[in-house]
Amino acid sequence: MRVLVVGGGGREHALIWKIRQSPYIEEIFCAPGNGGIESIATCVDIEVDDIKGLIQFAEDNVIDLTVIGPELPLTLGIVDHFQKADLAVFGPTKKAAELEGSKVYAKEFMAKHNIPSGGYKSFKSAKEAIRYVHTIDPPFVIKADGLAAGKGVIICQNRGEGFDAIEKIMKKKAFGKSGSRIVIEEFLEGEEVSVLAITDGERYVLLPPAQDHKAAYEGDTGPNTGGMGAYAPAPVLSEKDLKFVELNVIKPVIKGMKSEGRLYKGVLYAGIILTKDGPKVLEFNCRFGDPEIQAILPLLKTDILDLMMESAEGRLKNQPPLIEDKAAVCVVMASGGYPESYEKGKEIKGLKSVPKDVFVFHAGTKKRGNQVVTSGGRVLGVTAMSDNIQKAINKVYSAVSQITYDRAFYRGDIAHRAIKRL
Ligand code: GLY
Repeated sequence: MRVLVVGGGGREHALIWKIRQSPYIEEIFCAPGNGGIESIATCVDIEVDDIKGLIQFAEDNVIDLTVIGPELPLTLGIVDHFQKADLAVFGPTKKAAELEGSKVYAKEFMAKHNIPSGGYKSFKSAKEAIRYVHTIDPPFVIKADGLAAGKGVIICQNRGEGFDAIEKIMKKKAFGKSGSRIVIEEFLEGEEVSVLAITDGERYVLLPPAQDHKAAYEGDTGPNTGGMGAYAPAPVLSEKDLKFVELNVIKPVIKGMKSEGRLYKGVLYAGIILTKDGPKVLEFNCRFGDPEIQAILPLLKTDILDLMMESAEGRLKNQPPLIEDKAAVCVVMASGGYPESYEKGKEIKGLKSVPKDVFVFHAGTKKRGNQVVTSGGRVLGVTAMSDNIQKAINKVYSAVSQITYDRAFYRGDIAHRAIKRL
């Protein structure tokens, strides 16, 4: 098979690494890719939102399956365009991807289908939102309706922070049109866990639950990032709670989306919080979590290409995927200054010293002559798998210590919550 993967981050590098293990693979392309992906796939210089360009490429190169990595093209309707052009594609349609693309839609959908989530109200007018904030007790959460590069969720510890958030999102339009509506939501307390399913719109398979580390600094402190590391499976989610999430979130979402004429194919990512009243949904994403998928894929023994093709063609088997009885930990190496401003173009050294059984997925890198240099905030996702979580942690940090670049920055406590449970 000839496969095109759309995207250029750690998620796409990990996906391509896994897809290459399929016996069916003939050639893999990636648009636009990055400095690490180009050593395992042919990178083509087409941006992820250039839907026409991507369709043209898929047609010209007789692509059998296109896999969409990031949310932006999905919410723009890339899947609908590929389907119209009669090209096989993995991911949800525009209407289905609204589960991630519109927080207001997601909350309304959950309320309608009895999916456990925090109480909320949505607003189109800043004036009404401000009036409402005067009536509620902090803490509460304000979310921009649309995509906001992971920055559209603001936890407000007092009403003043709420007014500031409304000003930023609705009046100053910090996230453009994404802030023309907001959700004001109950603040939920508990540990977070990511539950990812691959679905064909009716059937689904669950991947091992993973835990992300969104805060920039150790001890889960500092500003939120795209994710500083992840591990899987996450023991924070008990068997019982996983079953609860499957029966009360994953199943009813797939059924509910179908009943609303929004057949949901691709990845359904439920961001779950484990509250004292049980698991509740914080958010949905319509694509693989990053960096979670970098820790999940090494554990997956089932052919990922089979699963994605079956999802695209609506013929997924209701069979649990085969999973290694091991643990995997991914540590994100970032640029000093991330998630605020950071410099690029730093030469990365030591990549060849990393043992062969540790996977270095590139996120923000590019090639400069013979060098690999930094080109983004999150630079690398270093992932190790071992018999248990402690061994995986030791292995991953030993590899991370081999890799150097100016102002390299990473958290030293990835998977600390799993360790607490040992
Ligand atoms: N790791 C969080 C996300 O992918 O949205």
